[in-house]
Order: sequence, then C-alpha cells, then structure tokens
Amino acid sequence: MTHLTEKAKAVSALPLKERVAYMNNMWIGYTQAVNILEGLQELLDHPPSHRMPGMLIVGAGNNGKSHILNHFLKRNKAFVSKEDDLVKLPIVYVQMPASPSEKDFYIEILDAVGAPYKISDRPDRRAQLVLTSLRSLNVKILMIDEFHHLLAGNSTKQRQLLNMLKVLSNKLGISLVGAGTKEAFRAIQTDPQLASRFTPYVLSKWKMDEDDEYLSLLASFEKLLPLQKPSELTDEKIALKILTMTDRTIGQISSLLKLCARHAISNGTESITLKTLNEVKWKTPADIDKEQRMEI
Ligand SMILES: Nc1ncnc2c1ncn2[C@@H]1O[C@H](COP(=O)(O)OP(=O)(O)OP(=O)(O)O)[C@@H](O)[C@H]1O
Ligand SMILES: [Mg+2]
Repeated sequence: MTHLTEKAKAVSALPLKERVAYMNNMWIGYTQAVNILEGLQELLDHPPSHRMPGMLIVGAGNNGKSHILNHFLKRNKAFVSKEDDLVKLPIVYVQMPASPSEKDFYIEILDAVGAPYKISDRPDRRAQLVLTSLRSLNVKILMIDEFHHLLAGNSTKQRQLLNMLKVLSNKLGISLVGAGTKEAFRAIQTDPQLASRFTPYVLSKWKMDEDDEYLSLLASFEKLLPLQKPSELTDEKIALKILTMTDRTIGQISSLLKLCARHAISNGTESITLKTLNEVKWKTPADIDKEQRMEI
C-alpha cells in the first residue's frame, strides 16, 4: 500500500469508526499554509519592540484559516518556564465577538487566559487586568479570529477597538494576528498606522492552475484518507468534478472526500472513483442554487 502514509496505512486496517475519527483530524501542509506557519514562527521569535509586526490571514469562509491558527497553537502550548517556574503562554487565541465592544473583547481575552474577573469590574480595572495577565504570562502573539466582526460595530466602536489593539501591542510588545474574510482587510484599513504593520496572507479558493497546487492538495488527501486501494484523485476528470461539486474551499473539498471515503469503506470498494462521486448524497452549489430559487 504505497499510496498511503505509514500512519494512514495502519489506520486503513481498522473498522469504520476509527477510520472516521482519524479522518476528522487530518492536517495537510499545502504551500500557503506552510508560508503562514513560517510567518507565525517569525513573529514568535521576534524580539519585543514598540512596533511589533503582525499578520492578517484573509480568505473565504470554510477555507482553512482557523485550522492553520489551531495547528500553530497546538505546537505552542502553555509551559512552565525553567527560569522562574512560572506558567508561560506564548499565544492567546480569541474570536472577535459578533457585536464587538471593548468590554466583550477584554472578557474574551480574560476567559482565554483563565484570569479571574468580575462582570461588575470597572472598565479601567478590566483593561489593567488584561495588561497584567498578558504580561505575566509572557504572551508573544494575540490571535484574533473572525476579525471581520469588527465591522459589525459602528465607526466609533471600530476606532476604539483598533486603538485598544494598538495600545496592547505597543505596551506589551506582542504581535497581533487577525484572520477573517476579506472584510477583515477593510476593517483594518480604517487605521492606516495599524494596517501598515499587518502583512496580508491570502488563502484563495482552489482551482486548476499551472503550479498544480490543487493537484498536490488532492495527492496529499489521497495519502491520508485511510482507504486500502489507490483512488487516483489527481486524475483530471476526478479533480475537475470535485471542483464543480464544491464551492472550491478546502472545507468543502475535505467534507466531500471524507464522505466519499466513508462510502467506499462501507461498500467495500476501498477507493474513490468517478462512480463514488456520483453515488454519494451531496448537494452541489448548483443544487443549492436551484433549491433556493424554487423557494422564492
Ligand atoms: N490544512 C488543512 N488540512 C486538512 N484539512 C483542512 C485544512 N485546513 C482546513 N481543513 C478542513 O477545512 C475545514 C474548514 O477549515 P477552517 O475551519 O479552518 O475554515 P475557516 O477559513 O476558518 O472558515 P470560517 O471563515 O467559516 O471560520 C476544517 O474543519 C478542516 O476539515
Ligand atoms: Mg474559522
């Protein structure tokens, strides 16, 4: 079974349930994901300064932003420092609240670091608690997922939040990493000084192109999906069909392939072919579009 990694080969001998659990934890290091991980590592290694560089990861929904952040988080968990025997937390991950305010954002951070606070705390006390907590944990990166939610607030709130982020970054010498849809770009442009510090990284939707990135992605999936026979996902017809069946995000591509793999395990074919893609119960973007038009 040379078509699989060693781990996938071992899993392919297991029953369906174990194979499904394994498929739900796959990680593929495609080129842009690796670029972003390298960028994150540079931020982590950057000495503290009053003008820390940051990063903005922009991409469509379901296209791999949070998966990359979480992959990096898993590699850089909290640890106890040998120097002073205190807990250090290199990265704090929060989500921008859906209707953001300074208060909610501070609470997100305090929850993420497990700092005790009272809802009735005065705003200045809460802000102080955030500063002291992040400082004592020696935080290097503050990751803010769903960054585009910033635009849900009115322009005064947006300005307040961006200013607060700048103060946090300047006072503590930490890097800010935002991730969100392309609206996140727009959100940050309202503060040109902050915007100039964020290096943008774009996660484009997948397509057939000359650099064969998409075909390599499919080849990686084939190596990880624990099926006993090769699938030839990189066959042009199969590769194109997968694109037309999905919205071309890695999330949908992955869901479709996992569904096909489950189908192939259940019916004993152990391989994904054009037939598998035709047999699975799956709604293509065209199906969804048709349904929506019928509802109107
Ligand atoms: N590098 C990867 N390797 C394997 N699977 C991945 C990878 N990146 C994303 N996926 C799959 O795609 C799904 C969607 O990815 P993710 O949740 O990161 O998208 P997102 O861009 O954060 O979406 P949203 O904007 O809706 O929050 C993941 O749950 C995972 O199944
Ligand atoms: Mg996400």
